[in-house]
Amino acid sequence: MIFRSLTLALALLASSAGAAEPQQPVKLQDAARGPVPIMETTRPPLLANPVNDDIRRTRNYDMQPPTIPHKVDSYQIDKNFNKCMDCHARAKTELSQAVPVSVTHYVDRNGKVLGQISTRRYFCMQCHVPQEAVRPLVNNQFEDVDTVIRKGQAAPAGHKK
Ligand code: HEC
Ligand code: HEC
Repeated sequence: MIFRSLTLALALLASSAGAAEPQQPVKLQDAARGPVPIMETTRPPLLANPVNDDIRRTRNYDMQPPTIPHKVDSYQIDKNFNKCMDCHARAKTELSQAVPVSVTHYVDRNGKVLGQISTRRYFCMQCHVPQEAVRPLVNNQFEDVDTVIRKGQAAPAGHKK
């Protein structure tokens, strides 16, 4: 029985393969890439006008790296100098009025707290990014925990957890 249905399936496969038209390549349309084929490099639009309002933004969840509320154009970050730490180091904040980097930024991978910024946190813009007033490419329905709790409280008693 199994054997029969197997041969049938194989026969079907073979016949459909024989009859198949040459496959048209599926046109890919991606929000970020547009119709540019995967093997080609896109030319993303230039970012020109980062938000520079100096207003610290709400963090959406615990341990989110806060977004940068100021311009960072041409700030030097290399082995000689870290412009960010020129304002964000603990000792510099009285002058700069910047938020000092938190203690996590001084901890090495063995959990030891160092006297200077950890190499793990040296390249700030791996994690922290300025914002640009552009339309999001992908819809996002993320809700933070406060919203979730509020919705839970508003729901009828029977639906409460
Ligand atoms: C000239 C001083 C200065 C420099 C240089 C500087 N910042 Fe800032 N930064 C500030 C100040 C002041 C604030 C507080 C908000 C404001 O005034 O923009 C801030 C805010 C931030 C925040 C928001 C913190 C929070 O809790 O919301 C982040 C993240 C940040 N900066 C990252 C950086 C990074 C990364 C660099 C380097 C690419 C950098 N900053 C360079 C002065 C500076
Ligand atoms: C590997 C990711 C990563 C890198 C690299 C990094 N940060 Fe952060 N940063 C975080 C995260 C996550 C937080 C929020 C939780 C915390 O404080 O650790 C944060 C918090 C901050 C804050 C807010 C501190 C507070 O107490 O509210 C500032 C300011 C900041 N970072 C600046 C910097 C600067 C300047 C650099 C570069 C010298 C840097 N960060 C490098 C991930 C990173």
